[in-house]
Amino acid sequence: MVCLLPLSDMFNFTHIVMLLNFSFHIDAAAKPLVISHNGASGDYPDCTDQAYQKAVADGADVIDCPVQVTKDGIPICMSSIDLMDVTTVATSQFATPAVTITDLKPVPGVFSFNLTWDDISKNLKPMISNPLSKFQLYRNPRNKNAGSFMRLSDFLAFAKDKDLSGIMITVERAAFMAEKLGFGVVDAVIKALDDSGYSKQTAQKVMIQSTNSSVLVKFKQETKYDLVYMIEEDVRDAAPSSLADIKKFASAVSVSTKSIFPTTNQFLTNQTNNLVTSLQSSGLPVYVYLLMNEFVSQPYDFFSDATAQINGYVQGAKVDGVITDFPGTAHRYKLNSCMGKNAPDFMRPAQPGGILSVMDPGAQPPAAAPMPLLTDSDVAEPPLPPVSNTTTASTPSHAALRMKTDASILITLLVLCASLLI
Ligand SMILES: *[C@@H]1O[C@H](CO)[C@@H](O)[C@H](O)[C@H]1NC(C)=O
Ligand SMILES: *[C@@H]1O[C@H](CO)[C@@H](O)[C@H](O)[C@H]1NC(C)=O
Ligand SMILES: *[C@@H]1O[C@H](CO)[C@@H](O)[C@H](O)[C@H]1NC(C)=O
Ligand SMILES: *[C@@H]1O[C@H](CO)[C@@H](O)[C@H](O)[C@H]1NC(C)=O
Repeated sequence: MVCLLPLSDMFNFTHIVMLLNFSFHIDAAAKPLVISHNGASGDYPDCTDQAYQKAVADGADVIDCPVQVTKDGIPICMSSIDLMDVTTVATSQFATPAVTITDLKPVPGVFSFNLTWDDISKNLKPMISNPLSKFQLYRNPRNKNAGSFMRLSDFLAFAKDKDLSGIMITVERAAFMAEKLGFGVVDAVIKALDDSGYSKQTAQKVMIQSTNSSVLVKFKQETKYDLVYMIEEDVRDAAPSSLADIKKFASAVSVSTKSIFPTTNQFLTNQTNNLVTSLQSSGLPVYVYLLMNEFVSQPYDFFSDATAQINGYVQGAKVDGVITDFPGTAHRYKLNSCMGKNAPDFMRPAQPGGILSVMDPGAQPPAAAPMPLLTDSDVAEPPLPPVSNTTTASTPSHAALRMKTDASILITLLVLCASLLI
């Protein structure tokens, strides 16, 4: 039985074998769905044109845009609402005054909504993310400030004609934006999708992801896009009532790596979490976040190897998709033919708790506490507040105006009812 890994130096050999062996096939559309995280953010600064170009070139199925807003009300793709995290703002004329907004961050920041799109695009440079800097591991310094920032409209125009199965737009802090900035982010995203023609095409799936169910509920009321609920905390399973709730507004779920394979001190424990099975048997595909290539990011059971880790999630846990800073690694994994019952030993997924079980009891790390169960109270959220009339933010959207009218009609009615009661 032929089984090959797509090592580049075996490429010609692979092609010969393909010609000779009819049972051999590569199914590029197979699982997992490869979803980028801020574009190919392992190689280029988050959400830049270069990060998205690299993600597409590397074979991502879906590229993603986390939406923030500028002072002039322009939705942009930016992985953090605080520009200190992902741009060179700290060394620019906009470094002061940094402000502390406790709703967002305990420390001072320079927030996207305090600068205009011109301020950002003409004066700042992107800055590559270094999530593992505490291990002195830095991403390619050559690309440290490479690429240009993208508005949501630029992202949509870029993605539209690419060979992608879809795009994912991530919306967070919608309530803050509505109340404090007077910005209706859901309406802004819907409008950008309309303007770009995305609402009138079926070639690419449009996925909207949020950790807050109220955002997805609103999208569900107004659109037919695919809604992805991201479970923010580590959980061992989802209670039936929470599954029923999620099904009301989402068609897929993103879960953390640890919710699937719990760890203690970077060793997989033998706790078996049922989250993937529970979600999938309710008809919800599962995407795991967040995968990286840096060797310190994978538990030892995966040999500190990114491909072994992907294999663990795909063959071991049977996830439907992976959300990754390095879409190229996940795409390359998909090209292998070493899956299924003919898989050789080296492709067997790691057994959770395997290393711990052979470790001297005295050397074992403390047992990890069991993770909580996701319940319907974790999922339920109050509806999004109406978009406020603030003078700091840009022109209010139509929806904002509509809601204001709705609110004033409501108040009139209440006053009327009250006067009737008296
Ligand atoms: C930043 O924006 C917020 C909300 O619009 C506003 O309250 C605050 O004063 C702004 N801060 C600066 C330094 O511009
Ligand atoms: C899991 O591991 C712990 C110690 O690490 C051990 O006591 C327990 O028996 C193991 N459970 C199973 C089901 O293997
Ligand atoms: C989710 O959004 C609602 C408004 O719809 C807000 O009240 C709530 O605090 C948000 N939840 C979290 C965890 O941010
Ligand atoms: C918003 O409020 C300001 C005063 O706070 C007012 O001058 C302005 O007319 C209001 N705008 C709308 C659209 O109601």
